[in-house]
Amino acid sequence: MSADELKRAAAWAAVERVRSGMVLGLGTGSTTTHAIHRLGELWQRGALCDLVGIPTSERTRALAEQYRLPLATLAEKPRVDLAIDGADEVDANLELIKGLGGALLREKEVARAAAELVIIVDEGKLVERLGTRAPVPVEVALADVERAAQRLRALGGAPSLRGGATPYVTDNGNAILDFHVAGGIADPAALAAALDACAEVRAHGLFLGLASEVIVAGQHGLRYLRRGPRR
Ligand code: 5RP
Repeated sequence: MSADELKRAAAWAAVERVRSGMVLGLGTGSTTTHAIHRLGELWQRGALCDLVGIPTSERTRALAEQYRLPLATLAEKPRVDLAIDGADEVDANLELIKGLGGALLREKEVARAAAELVIIVDEGKLVERLGTRAPVPVEVALADVERAAQRLRALGGAPSLRGGATPYVTDNGNAILDFHVAGGIADPAALAAALDACAEVRAHGLFLGLASEVIVAGQHGLRYLRRGPRR
């Protein structure tokens, strides 16, 4: 199977968790795109009804609108039954790096509001240590880029401004500093706490204690990795 077929397999398996009447967090990225296509088909066929989706990006909103899925904001629907999203790295404790697709701020808000967060990945996203393949995306106001970069360097890593001379701008009008940690992140909780303590940081891509399940598609089939009740 190609990488894209693996992503689709994980996405379709996650959509099997969806029941009529749910408020759904709709993630962002190529894997989640498969889930939204599947959801949209089931919705249009009448196999699922009374759904409300909370999109985590304008891209996702546009895709869901193609299927006429009813959409709302977190302010309108603060309790999310199930969120489905992708990830850039997943470790053995179901801790994640997200945000290479640039939607981390809304993704984290939706993940925190969700009773269940199901993460869908192909097996290439599994890592022993977070930060070994992907940087940690850090969203900051455009005006704060320099100060935030200094703080990140003081934390022992190397920030690079996404987009360089033409900075990438998120749906929230912010920039992203991709924070590279040589050798990976020894203590994700400590780094997350340090990032949370930086006034310039609007959101970061360490999603710790949030995923309730990770569905991994590999050449030998699907694996369902589950964690116990939310901490
Ligand atoms: C977007 C994300 C994505 O979920 C993550 O980048 C994975 O994307 P893909 O499914 O395309 O590999 O965090 O902000």
